[in-house]
Amino acid sequence: MARNATNKLLQKAKKSKSDEFYTQLKDIESELQHYKAHFKDKVVFCNCDDPRISQFFNYFASNFHELSLKKLVTACYRKQARNLFNFNTEEDENGFFFEYCGEEKQYNKPNSTEIVYFNGDGDFRSSESIELLKQSDIVVTNPPFSLFREYVSQLVKYDKKFLIIGNINAITYKEIFKLIKENKAWLGINLGRGISGFIVPEHYELYGTEARIDSLGNRIVSPNNCLWLTNLDTFKRHEDIVLTKKYFGNEAEYPKYDNYDGINVDRTKNIPLDYKGAMGVPITFLHKFNPNQFEIIKFRKGDDEKDLSINGKCPYFRILIKNKRF
Ligand SMILES: C[S@@+](CC[C@H](N)C(=O)[O-])C[C@H]1O[C@@H](n2cnc3c(N)ncnc32)[C@H](O)[C@@H]1O
Repeated sequence: MARNATNKLLQKAKKSKSDEFYTQLKDIESELQHYKAHFKDKVVFCNCDDPRISQFFNYFASNFHELSLKKLVTACYRKQARNLFNFNTEEDENGFFFEYCGEEKQYNKPNSTEIVYFNGDGDFRSSESIELLKQSDIVVTNPPFSLFREYVSQLVKYDKKFLIIGNINAITYKEIFKLIKENKAWLGINLGRGISGFIVPEHYELYGTEARIDSLGNRIVSPNNCLWLTNLDTFKRHEDIVLTKKYFGNEAEYPKYDNYDGINVDRTKNIPLDYKGAMGVPITFLHKFNPNQFEIIKFRKGDDEKDLSINGKCPYFRILIKNKRF
């Protein structure tokens, strides 16, 4: 009991710690290069970002004219941001926002006379922040991981385009999977090791083999477990997965599930090209998913609503898909 409680506390601490993962410019550039055409004449909203430190703000302000943006709005939540990176904490109960319309400035960062304070703390769910959301076209940020479900559901509620960073596990959340299944959201280009790492504050313990301090003195962790989630079209959604394997003649490699009429496929590249029925594939399939090639049927569960099993054993979570080209 006591151990359980401790584990829960540790998990909670770990979760809220990833709320303080700050995105690096190189990872933003690496993903955003694939979406440039979407931004013409658009209002971009970064609603979990302090414009003084956010590399999302930096990216959009620096590329404002190249992207032909209409406006960049950056809103900062103060309650959690105080003390990070040694900013003074005098005005710290109120959140604030900054609007940038591409004016020539010596530095793109706002000065204290240019920011507008909210009456409240700038929580992305607050009416003041939602007002800014309503006026925007595309939301781009890395939101707090612990509020990811709520964050995405608000974007869907207000029918916004988005490109955001989340944890790979988010795919398995019921609400997020539903969006993916219905083709209302999909994975971006970079995933896992494709996102090089996050800057963490001074008080954050550096863990993992790739944890480091970079040449600018930034403390970096590389969790290798993040993805970009978006509803902006990408070239990747239109590329077929190249299929080379055959089911017929190799049936033993593709066992049938006990509780669903379908076969198990252990790796995306092993999806057989000649199988018309349902196939269970690993969740990493979603990184290569082309909705014209495959249809997503269901996640994880068989007809009895228990985890998909083979001879009583459950392989790791599977997504049931069908080849649409038959
Ligand atoms: C994962 S960090 C990312 C920060 C920044 N977007 C970036 O990518 O560098 C999440 C940020 O959301 C802020 N935050 C936490 N809860 C929030 C809330 N309810 N509303 C708005 N921002 C929040 C945190 O203070 C933190 O700065």
